[in-house]
Amino acid sequence: MKKVNIGIIGGGLMGKEAASSFARWFAINDLPVQVELTAVCDVNQEVLSWYRNVPSVKLLTTDYKELLADEEIDVVYVALPHHLHKQYYLEVLTAGKDLLAEKPFGVDLEAALAIKNQADRLGRFVRCSSEMPFLPGPQRVVKEVESGRLGQVIEIKAGFLHSSDLDPDKPINWKRQVSFCGEIGVMGDLGMHVLHIPLRLGWKPERIYAQLQKIITQRPDGKGGMAECDTWNNATLNTEVKIADNLVPMTLEMKRMAPGETNTWYIEIMGTEGGVKYSTKDIKTLWTFKRSNEQWWQRTDLGFKGMPFTTITGAIFEPGFPDCFMQMLAAYIAERAGLLNGRFGCVTPEEALNSHYIFDAALRSFNNQTLEKITYFKTE
Ligand SMILES: NC(=O)c1ccc[n+]([C@@H]2O[C@H](COP(=O)([O-])OP(=O)(O)OC[C@H]3O[C@@H](n4cnc5c(N)ncnc54)[C@H](O)[C@@H]3O)[C@@H](O)[C@H]2O)c1
Repeated sequence: MKKVNIGIIGGGLMGKEAASSFARWFAINDLPVQVELTAVCDVNQEVLSWYRNVPSVKLLTTDYKELLADEEIDVVYVALPHHLHKQYYLEVLTAGKDLLAEKPFGVDLEAALAIKNQADRLGRFVRCSSEMPFLPGPQRVVKEVESGRLGQVIEIKAGFLHSSDLDPDKPINWKRQVSFCGEIGVMGDLGMHVLHIPLRLGWKPERIYAQLQKIITQRPDGKGGMAECDTWNNATLNTEVKIADNLVPMTLEMKRMAPGETNTWYIEIMGTEGGVKYSTKDIKTLWTFKRSNEQWWQRTDLGFKGMPFTTITGAIFEPGFPDCFMQMLAAYIAERAGLLNGRFGCVTPEEALNSHYIFDAALRSFNNQTLEKITYFKTE
């Protein structure tokens, strides 16, 4: 069986999540590719020492160049703050490695463009993270749309909602400061997750009116003082997309301050003949709408069945975050090996770049208070 050696740069929240998925790779049934996490780089020694729990890891380093010089590493997963994406992604590619990037795939449009162009030039396999669509519910949403059962699409709503920032006493961190997370703020944090399925279905918005909000502008700095919290907390993107020559409203919500929501990802698509909606708030439930002599919402209880990659987990058991994250990694490894076989794939560099064209237009729309046309082209 083929084996892929993985390195991680940035061993924080997401680095650990990836390590945990790789460590139980044997749970996947139908993917004839082994993976092994062999090297981790982080500038924080405390973070690095956690990886002593992972028996396959041979190299723990604070120097990413040491990791990139390791000829046995095939793929590098980079999970770093956004202002570092461009430099590290470009260096990973130049070192001859394939890249599993984290969103937002660069701190801004210019960075995303440079990363995509470098990937194209060097012919490396590059995909970007977005795991929620790998749950059975979103997979069924995609199938409903592709089946044509919805008739003419009337409206699309999608979003990703958090609420931990509602606590004004939560100390500042890099995700709440423009210099680290970028001017796009919450759009960079949550937007790729929201756009993955719409863009995969070919729904590239043509016009946008953005509502952006900075709600809490100062936070404790963790040293007894206060620090500026200058990112957008919430974004509501009112967009318009052309589907079969009809202009259709598509509303995209990305919110760090959505009362009552911990990590709620949702999508709703309504058509003249049918509809479909799914939210991780009710992780097992798929809602489908049918119109006949009466109008029906049908609730289907989903289990593990419907994951793109079958695993040892029983079909009736409910999935969670670690499961969809592992499915996303499986999709990356399978597609890289030419084994995706029609299954849903990770965000492509082109999709990641397109998300930046949308966020860039959103900033213009908000700053000028205008309805902006979105142009999907820019040279480096
Ligand atoms: N896919 C998802 O659901 C999801 C969720 C959260 C975050 N993310 C993304 O993952 C990335 C990382 O976010 P996180 O939440 O893991 O952040 P984090 O702060 O928990 O981890 C980042 C790690 O990078 C390390 N680091 C910083 N500078 C470094 C450098 N120069 N070299 C090596 N290590 C360095 C830090 O010490 C830290 O351990 C971001 O792009 C973020 O948007 C994705």
